[in-house]
Amino acid sequence: MNVLVIGKGGREHALVRALYQSPSVDQIMAIPGNDGMKKEALCAGIKEPSDMISFCKKMSVDLVVIGPEAEIVSGLPDLFRDAGFLVFAPSKEAAALEASKIFSKQFMKEGEVPTSRAFVVENLEEVKARYKEFSSPWVLKADGLAAGKGVFICQTEEELFTASEKLFKEQIFGEAGKRALLEEYQAGWELSCHVLTNGSEYQLLPLVQDHKRLLDGQKGPNTGGMGTVAPYQISEDLLQQVKKRVIEPSIQLIERKKLFYRGVLFIGMMITEKGPIVLEYNVRFGDPETQVLMPLLDGDWAEVFYKIARGEVPDLRWKDLYATCVVLAAKGYPQNPVKGDQIFADLDKITMSSYFLHAGTAFKEGRWVVNGGRVLNAIGLGSSLEESIREAYKLAESVQWPGMQMRKDIGKWMK
Ligand code: GLY
Repeated sequence: MNVLVIGKGGREHALVRALYQSPSVDQIMAIPGNDGMKKEALCAGIKEPSDMISFCKKMSVDLVVIGPEAEIVSGLPDLFRDAGFLVFAPSKEAAALEASKIFSKQFMKEGEVPTSRAFVVENLEEVKARYKEFSSPWVLKADGLAAGKGVFICQTEEELFTASEKLFKEQIFGEAGKRALLEEYQAGWELSCHVLTNGSEYQLLPLVQDHKRLLDGQKGPNTGGMGTVAPYQISEDLLQQVKKRVIEPSIQLIERKKLFYRGVLFIGMMITEKGPIVLEYNVRFGDPETQVLMPLLDGDWAEVFYKIARGEVPDLRWKDLYATCVVLAAKGYPQNPVKGDQIFADLDKITMSSYFLHAGTAFKEGRWVVNGGRVLNAIGLGSSLEESIREAYKLAESVQWPGMQMRKDIGKWMK
C-alpha cells in the first residue's frame, strides 16, 4: 500500500521509519516531512488541504496517517475522509478532547473518569475568587492548543496572578487562552498511556514514561519531552485500575457520545496515592512517546493503522524488547531555541540497536544544521531497560553542536 504521513517532527519520523519497515508498504510520502526522513519518504511541501487531496489522488495513496494535533483539530482528517481516503486520526468533533481542556474536563466528569477538581476562569478576578479553594501549587491551563506551553504550575500567588495576566490580559495564546481551567495540583508520577481505538473497542499499547522537565533530577522548565522509555512495567493491580477506571469509561463515553474515532487516544495521567488521575487527553501519538513505541511491535504497523482506519481493532503482539529515546535539544530550548548551528555527528549511523530520528534538523549546503527546539532523537534498543539506555546514550554522546542540551538521567526514574 501507499501511505501518506502528515507532519514534520520526531514523532512523524518514527512513524515513517515504522512504515518503511512494514512489509505491506510500497511507497511512503510525507507532507511536509523533514530532511532527515527523505531517504525513507517522498517529502512534499504542500500547504493547502485541497492540494494535499489532489496529491493523494495522483500518488494513489491508500492510507493517510496524521501526526500533529493542530492538523487533527483543524478537521483535516474529515476532509480526507470526505474525499474517500482511509485516515488514521479522529474527527474534528472528537478532537475537542484535546482542543479544549474545558470540554475534556466536562467529558471526564460525565464519564466518571478520575481527574482533578477544577474551575473555569476567564479573568484575574475569577482566579482570585477561586484559588483559595486549593492549596499551592496551583495549575492554570489554557483551554485551547498552545503548542505544549499552555500549562502553568504556580508555586506562589504572585506566579498564579502573573500567569493569569499573561493569559487573559496579554493574551499570549490568543483565543486559546481566553478561558482556562484553574485546577488542583496532583502529586505523583506521570504515565503516558496510548490506546488504539475505533471508538468502541480498544487495544492498549505498551506504557511509556516521558521526562518532561528540561534538566536532570526532574528540574527546570517543562518541555514537550526530553526523553522516553518503554515498556514501563507497572503492577497488575495498577494496570487494572488504569483499564477499569480510566480507559474503559473514556472509550464508553466516546461511543455513547457518538464521537467518530479512528486513531490513537493518548491519556496523560498522574499516578497518585489515590490511584490514576487523568491530566489530559490527546488525540494523537505522543512525541517522544512514538519514538519508543514503534520499535516494540511484533508486526506490520501499516496493517495496524489501516485496520483502525477501517474501523477494526487488530490483536497486537509485542517484542521482548526495551526502547529508550534521548532527546537532543537546541541551545535556549524551550523558551528561545537557537537555530542554524552546524551539527557534528554521523547521523546516518545505524546499528542493530541504535539509530537517530530527526525532529528539528535541516540539511543546508551539505551540512546538517539545527532547525528547531527538539533537534534529534537518539534511540537505543535492548533486551533490558539498562541495555536500551546504554545504547541510546552511546549514540547521543556522538553528537555535538554549541549549547546542545540533553538529560543524562532518562530511564532512571522507574518506580
Ligand atoms: N510528550 C508529550 C506529548 O506529546 O504531549
